[in-house]
Amino acid sequence: MELKDSVSIITGGASGLGEATTRKFHSLGSKVCIFDLDNLRGKKLEKELGENCEYFCIDVCNEPVLIEAINAVMYRFNKININVNCAGKALAEKTLGKEGSHDLSRFKKIIDVNLIGTFNILRLCAEKMAKNPLDKNHERGIIINTASVAALEGQKGQVAYAASKGGVAAMTLPIARDLARDHIRCCCIAPGLFLTPMFEGLGEEVCEALAKDVVFPKRLGDPNEFAEYASQIVQNTYINGSVMRLDGGIRLA
Ligand SMILES: NC(=O)c1ccc[n+]([C@@H]2O[C@H](COP(=O)([O-])OP(=O)(O)OC[C@H]3O[C@@H](n4cnc5c(N)ncnc54)[C@H](O)[C@@H]3O)[C@@H](O)[C@H]2O)c1
Repeated sequence: MELKDSVSIITGGASGLGEATTRKFHSLGSKVCIFDLDNLRGKKLEKELGENCEYFCIDVCNEPVLIEAINAVMYRFNKININVNCAGKALAEKTLGKEGSHDLSRFKKIIDVNLIGTFNILRLCAEKMAKNPLDKNHERGIIINTASVAALEGQKGQVAYAASKGGVAAMTLPIARDLARDHIRCCCIAPGLFLTPMFEGLGEEVCEALAKDVVFPKRLGDPNEFAEYASQIVQNTYINGSVMRLDGGIRLA
């Protein structure tokens, strides 16, 4: 699928991996719609990118608000071609910690945002994509979800996060199969460790320690590398139904 003249919805598009994707897609001629909770960052990015960028203050778990926003995108741009899902939350809590068993509501919240929130938006986008005419590659749309290497190698304290990302990874193939009839692809990127606002606050020393397990190059990933990969997936019609690691070879201990 071509990015030029496409319409993209990018959840979590105001920060980190999502923000880099918003910038990249916009630079390649896509009309970008940022779906994010962070009003301050979202509005700032919308203003900076100017034309062909619109910010929507959205919680991906809120179904009525999401439906309204998708209708607003349709009203403004008349179509949706691409949906990249980067909205996500992390949590550090063990199954059984010093203060007792894992809090159930916090477990549910992570599943709600990372897994159900991702599915919520992609199912609504797919409905609109299915109405697009076929493009020159016989495509109508593409969905890219964001899992994590924690889906496969979750560490201590990552039970909720790993479960949510495992779900995101596992649903990739059935979604691709479900939507094949409509000429819509579904792929999933499983990032390793990327230098986003989540990590920036940890300081240089901690980042260096984290980077030591990366095989090559020995550094955290740059969000632009994620955005570049997402744009390559969009443009290569034969990539479908796969969970693809982007991790410098890291395997979490
Ligand atoms: N940074 C990494 O190393 C890394 C590694 C593996 C996976 N990931 C995943 O990549 C995605 C992006 O991570 P990031 O590092 O860029 O994080 P980030 O915190 O920089 O960005 C996440 C964005 O999602 C938004 N968001 C959170 N909850 C939301 C909700 N309910 N509705 C709408 N927006 C919401 C936040 O406002 C934020 O702008 C996440 O799903 C994360 O789990 C990140």
